[in-house]
Amino acid sequence: MIETARKAIGIPSELSSWDISIPAFGNNPRILHSESVRNLKQTIDDLHHPEGKSPRLVEAELKVQAFYGYNIYYYDSRYFAVPQEQNGFDIDRFRSQSTSQMSVGHTIQDIQEEILRKQQDVQSATSRVLFLYHAELDGFRDYLAPFLHHNVTVLAGGNREIPAGPYNVVHYTDSNGRLSDTIDIKNVSPELLRRLRDENFDLVVIPHERRSFWQGIHLEQFTSSFAKCIINVFLNGRFRMYRGEDVHRIQYNKAYLNSMFRYVPAIRGQNILEVGCSDGLACDLLLCEEPRQITGVDVMGIVGCGYRDPRIRYERVDGSLLPFKDNSFHLSYSIATLEHCFDPVKTIEEMHRVTIPGGYCYIQAGPLYFSPFGHHMFGYFDDFPWVHLRLSPAEMIERLKSTGLSNNIQSVFGKEAETYVHSMMSIDHINGRRIADYKLEYFEKHPGIDLIASTRSYEGEDLLTDSIRRELGSISRKDLVSHGFELVFKKKA
Ligand SMILES: C[S@@+](CC[C@H](N)C(=O)[O-])C[C@H]1O[C@@H](n2cnc3c(N)ncnc32)[C@H](O)[C@@H]1O
Repeated sequence: MIETARKAIGIPSELSSWDISIPAFGNNPRILHSESVRNLKQTIDDLHHPEGKSPRLVEAELKVQAFYGYNIYYYDSRYFAVPQEQNGFDIDRFRSQSTSQMSVGHTIQDIQEEILRKQQDVQSATSRVLFLYHAELDGFRDYLAPFLHHNVTVLAGGNREIPAGPYNVVHYTDSNGRLSDTIDIKNVSPELLRRLRDENFDLVVIPHERRSFWQGIHLEQFTSSFAKCIINVFLNGRFRMYRGEDVHRIQYNKAYLNSMFRYVPAIRGQNILEVGCSDGLACDLLLCEEPRQITGVDVMGIVGCGYRDPRIRYERVDGSLLPFKDNSFHLSYSIATLEHCFDPVKTIEEMHRVTIPGGYCYIQAGPLYFSPFGHHMFGYFDDFPWVHLRLSPAEMIERLKSTGLSNNIQSVFGKEAETYVHSMMSIDHINGRRIADYKLEYFEKHPGIDLIASTRSYEGEDLLTDSIRRELGSISRKDLVSHGFELVFKKKA
């Protein structure tokens, strides 16, 4: 079983030990340590165990006890709030959706805020709500009606006529102090922003209409600068709430899906596949395009845990070993995932195989491993580009401790800096590949592919000082500034 998995993910079978130097990592031994390889082995064991059951019983870790009636557990990269009266954490109960009382989040802080919000809802029926009445919105009353029992402020773009009602009205002003129709974080008056921050809204409602939903990314960007909780009201009247880390995730997922729709026609009534869907945020976003069914796959044990819907089926599957028949999906896409996949080439080939002839593949990846922030430890080494190539894990940990950021890691993730750095740098989190390893030229000329777009993005030219260049002399300039790529094609009919 293991042997099959090793071959399938591209590990040469003649290598007998797992404590090996994997060729794709080239001469960057810093992230190759036996713990990483052990984790990868475990992941493969898990994936190939019959019925997807893990032979390793992953224990949920109790991180915070008795927080306003909840215990907070860590399980498979997420945090869960479980009412104290429930007897511990039970992932099967969560999977079977038999408990709506359990919440899931990316950090301990996300979960604590969610618990406090629930607490608040119980104590008072009213929240402080900001309603965005922006230029793309035709309707107003219908969208606003469900929120009117709250304490509502309407932020109106430009000179929009606002009918009298039980709410306060604030007009959007741009950086020149002028009334403006376009609500945009890059061009907002500092006074207005300060006022919105001071108001400390519990949530912001962003109503969306028509296909402008995908272009409307500026509305979430604007909102995230002063609020921690967003409710998107989708084209068909569905609601979805985003908190904490998801407020940031919705921005990049929406931006890439918007980019995808520049090339891919409407998907109404179609079968769609997402590779690397994580908790399901992007699958859920796509529902407003009314596909027939979305299949989300991920190696995470708790795949799809945040965004469940009967029209989405989630499967714990490796993208390079898709258990689907040839020609199954009208569109296969992947966002911010291939840089985590051990075998990205096989993953693209698999996406191509399961797409119908004439169907589309959209693949976006980045930040790639050798780029300035390819370590993915966002917020912790922002002033130290390429830290993962310039310092050893022990030096990175030391730096986190000396700057005090290890305390932040402890309160956000409930982890020691050591555990955090080793898990982020492990081979089952980031793949250590160079841009050439993705073989984009091969796909661009592939006989079974009609290429639509193949673009590269770059980052870090301005950060690459002479001294850093000397430090990283063995790595090509191209690798150091290759942030990511987009590959879009149609499978030849
Ligand atoms: C940065 S997350 C992006 C998730 C999602 N696209 C989003 O943007 O919210 C990368 C995801 O890729 C998944 N992943 C890593 N290796 C994978 C593989 N070989 N096959 C499928 N998913 C994988 C991880 O579990 C993780 O959920």
